[in-house]
Amino acid sequence: MITINEHYRKLNKSYLFVDIAKRVREFQDAHPDTEVIKLGIGDVTRPLPPAAVRALHDAADEMARPDTFRGYGPEQGYDFLREAIAEHDFRSRGVNITADDIFVSDGSKCDTGNFQELFAQAQTVAVPDPVYPVYVDTNVMAGRTGAFSDGRYEGLVYMEGTRENGFVPPPPEQDVDLLYLCFPNNPTGATATREQLARYVDYARERGALILFDAAYVAFIRDPDLPQSIYEIPGAETCAVEFRSFSKTAGFTGLRCAFTVVPERVEVRDADGGMHRLRDLWSRRHTTKFNGASFPVQRAAAAVYSPEGQTQIRELNDGYLENARIIREGIASIGLTSFGGVNSPYVWVDAGGHPSWELFDRLLNSAGVVTTPGAGFGPAGEGFIRISAFNDREKVVTAMDRIRSALA
Ligand code: MLT
Repeated sequence: MITINEHYRKLNKSYLFVDIAKRVREFQDAHPDTEVIKLGIGDVTRPLPPAAVRALHDAADEMARPDTFRGYGPEQGYDFLREAIAEHDFRSRGVNITADDIFVSDGSKCDTGNFQELFAQAQTVAVPDPVYPVYVDTNVMAGRTGAFSDGRYEGLVYMEGTRENGFVPPPPEQDVDLLYLCFPNNPTGATATREQLARYVDYARERGALILFDAAYVAFIRDPDLPQSIYEIPGAETCAVEFRSFSKTAGFTGLRCAFTVVPERVEVRDADGGMHRLRDLWSRRHTTKFNGASFPVQRAAAAVYSPEGQTQIRELNDGYLENARIIREGIASIGLTSFGGVNSPYVWVDAGGHPSWELFDRLLNSAGVVTTPGAGFGPAGEGFIRISAFNDREKVVTAMDRIRSALA
């Protein structure tokens, strides 16, 4: 008889964004004439940067000629991309990350979800609340939690982001083994200063924990004083893994390319006390379960690091940041309080005493605007909604006009 992984039974029935998409579909079926504006899931709408498009075309041409055709590439990614990443994202900022520390993949959702499988089932895991659900659900699937009750899983340690701590919670008081962080934060849009990141790094080094740092939204940081990588904090190269993505950085959500950084100096222990380089374990896993991102996509990703590519993505992301400003001001104009939306594409809106799903439904039904209910990211998100700046300018302006009318 076929029996399932029992841990799946602890999960919510569906993934947050699948749930939202279902409600939107039902609304759209009932109101076929309403143009629904989506400021829910953080999906880009602007076309790819021209430098990336040209690289894709050129790579397709290479694949069409017998002398330049390529089959399987290196699982970890082509050297041309790994070198470009190491140079532009790290060494140019004084951070000593080498191409060998970089593992190219087809998405950070998969990487943040898969990374936990390197660790023992009994490891204690800390996650933020509110939280990007992937960190939680993948640990549930792996059997690292108990049952779900009152919005939380038994066995997980939650680091609660609140107004009072600026949605940058302190490290947990108790010892944990794995600690997920995301800055700029999804969903609250909060950013972490050097001092705040240093507290997590100190914690990890003192307690022997590993930080799993999700930097998917790094391209929205404009404040030169904010760190862009966890490795800008001394000591992090011994206790942190960093996840980055071209999805939001360069509009690649439909193209799929990301990378994970596992520095050579991060070491982990086996049950007999033997030490292992974490990079070797991830390499073993990656080469076994993944055959590499496609060659044209990696060429497109490398083109993002060309001077023209850098200019183009800056303009692209400046456009989304301007949307975030419009959203913040629109929210303020109706007397609600918001957070984030600066150095970040997400605006975290205090629902003014209403439950998150109630405001979500009201905005969908009265304004035809899709947001994300904060409660979907955990109990600490209750009473908030997240508005994403990822859409075209005129749609964002129209959405804010409609929200203003609906809540007036
Ligand atoms: C979000 O809306 O939280 C993100 O787009 C989800 C993701 O990146 O997978």
